Amino acid sequence: MNTGQQEHKLDAGFWRATIVMGVISALGMWGVVVFPIERYLPEAAGIAVQIDWLFKFMAFFSVPILVYVNGYMIYFAVRYRNRKGQPLDQPGSSIHDHKALEFWWTAIPSVLMLVLGILSYVLIPQYYTARAASADSVTIEAIGHQFSWEFRYPGLRDPVPDELHLPINVPVTIDSTSTDVIHSFWVPAFRMKQDMIPGMVVPMTFTPTEIGKYEIVCTEFCGVGHSGMRDRFVYVQSRSDFDAWYAAEKTKQAHAPTQLTAAVLASGDAGAGQQLFNARCTTCHNAAPFDQRKVGPGLANLFHDPAHPKLLSGKAPTPADVADILEHGLSGSMGQMPNAQLNGLSAKDIADLVAYLKTLK
Ligand code: CUA
Repeated sequence: MNTGQQEHKLDAGFWRATIVMGVISALGMWGVVVFPIERYLPEAAGIAVQIDWLFKFMAFFSVPILVYVNGYMIYFAVRYRNRKGQPLDQPGSSIHDHKALEFWWTAIPSVLMLVLGILSYVLIPQYYTARAASADSVTIEAIGHQFSWEFRYPGLRDPVPDELHLPINVPVTIDSTSTDVIHSFWVPAFRMKQDMIPGMVVPMTFTPTEIGKYEIVCTEFCGVGHSGMRDRFVYVQSRSDFDAWYAAEKTKQAHAPTQLTAAVLASGDAGAGQQLFNARCTTCHNAAPFDQRKVGPGLANLFHDPAHPKLLSGKAPTPADVADILEHGLSGSMGQMPNAQLNGLSAKDIADLVAYLKTLK
């Protein structure tokens, strides 16, 4: 090893530090091997076991790199610090050009990265490709909205908002997309995450393997309501529970269209509407003048302000028009408003909201 004018051999202290770091690394690597990830985060799909294995592989080899890089940094900073009585401008030890050392610390991480890359390349694409539909698999469409999830099941007329039901041990393909901005669909218990991109359909294929209720989280900042896009759940159910849910949903949808009659609309309760507005609508709307936008326009003075812009129809808004937008949603120059089904609003809820909006002046 070439050093500066003074010879600074790596002394006994260096080797002691190296051994201590070796022991710490070995303990850390053993910890990675035995750590029960599934105790803290269930492995609820076949892919989860493999992703955890990949994660452990990476963490296992990261431990010695972390320990040695930082350990030597600390060791050398302490060992070769400026000592009392030494002039501040005294050159420190200059060690360079150790060809064997440089070869190995380049070669080993390169090989590790290469192996990790190959393993990921073999594993991950298996789960992000469409599988040919077959009698014993199911395809569900998942659509991201500001700020809810929409799931479409084969054979169900209407989409189901914010609830993904899956039968256990049945291969499933989820075709994901978005209607507005980029969301990211993440189910930690499945170890699957996929950006939902407007205009693109990306399939995710996996098999749920554990019955349970698992959170769905949006992990792409998608607007003011992004933080609310959690606390929605995947339900992995036994085949019979799933079939019962599916049948109940089908019956419910057959009876669903509750016509919003004039009588229902007139019976709205402004107090209940205010509570509902504060709980749901304030994600996107202020109870403030029109130009105080959040995602959508401010909704105060809706029926009272002559300066309030007319609706898309060109007419001044009437309670029936507003109820219509609440019921069917809106897609236009001002943006996208999900329909009542996606917002989880009943006819009574709509009537209450309209009654509340009427009181805003
Ligand atoms: Cu949707 Cu963040």
